[in-house]
Amino acid sequence: MGFFFFVQNMSLEISAWFVILLYINSVSASDSDPLQDFCIPNSEFSSLFLSCKNSSLVTVDDFVFTGLKSPGDSSKTGFSSIPVSSNVFPGLNTLGMLFVRADFDAGGINVPHYHPRATEVAFVLEGRIYSGFVDSKNRVFAKVLEKGEVMVFPRGLLHFQMNIDESRATILGSFNSQNPGLVKIPSAVFGTDIKEELLEKAFGLNGKELDKLRKKFVPKS
Ligand SMILES: *[C@@H]1O[C@H](CO)[C@@H](O)[C@H](O)[C@H]1NC(C)=O
Repeated sequence: MGFFFFVQNMSLEISAWFVILLYINSVSASDSDPLQDFCIPNSEFSSLFLSCKNSSLVTVDDFVFTGLKSPGDSSKTGFSSIPVSSNVFPGLNTLGMLFVRADFDAGGINVPHYHPRATEVAFVLEGRIYSGFVDSKNRVFAKVLEKGEVMVFPRGLLHFQMNIDESRATILGSFNSQNPGLVKIPSAVFGTDIKEELLEKAFGLNGKELDKLRKKFVPKS
């Protein structure tokens, strides 16, 4: 009797540990909590895993970024983005976030893309933007956002934006990861070395049509 009690109790304990382990796993799947007030990286080359500057050498300028006053160059595609990561803004390092200024010419688009490691909130600073995402049941959540409105794109879900006005539009996007990642669907699918036969079958394209898409979406170096 006592033995069975023991076994029963033990399996309870094991399942409790299992749940705790799962929990720890899910917590460590996002950016870890900082262990100090801030960590201005010692070197400018890469901020991941580098040691922190002696805090007596840190100044207010490490926490101020001045590079977003004007838009990026949108002349090629009608769209530009300036990502602000800890590489260009050391004060962000270890704080689990990144942000981006994006500008749209009239009709400009931000192609369907997703961020594997972050949720994004996008705040419309100027203009009107058709904006949306697709969930894992292929349901589309999209509408036109006005200046001053904010939309959230849940982590890992496909999303897109288009300026529907005749004038420039601008958004500020913020991410809850230091390294959200960016996968643009057109270039990930047609700009990579996936076997042609597979893409033709997947999208119902003939060789000529596929060639055209490949030329269009091969990343320009
Ligand atoms: C940081 O710099 C201060 C002032 O130069 C110095 O006293 C201190 O020992 C340094 N701390 C570390 C950890 O190097």
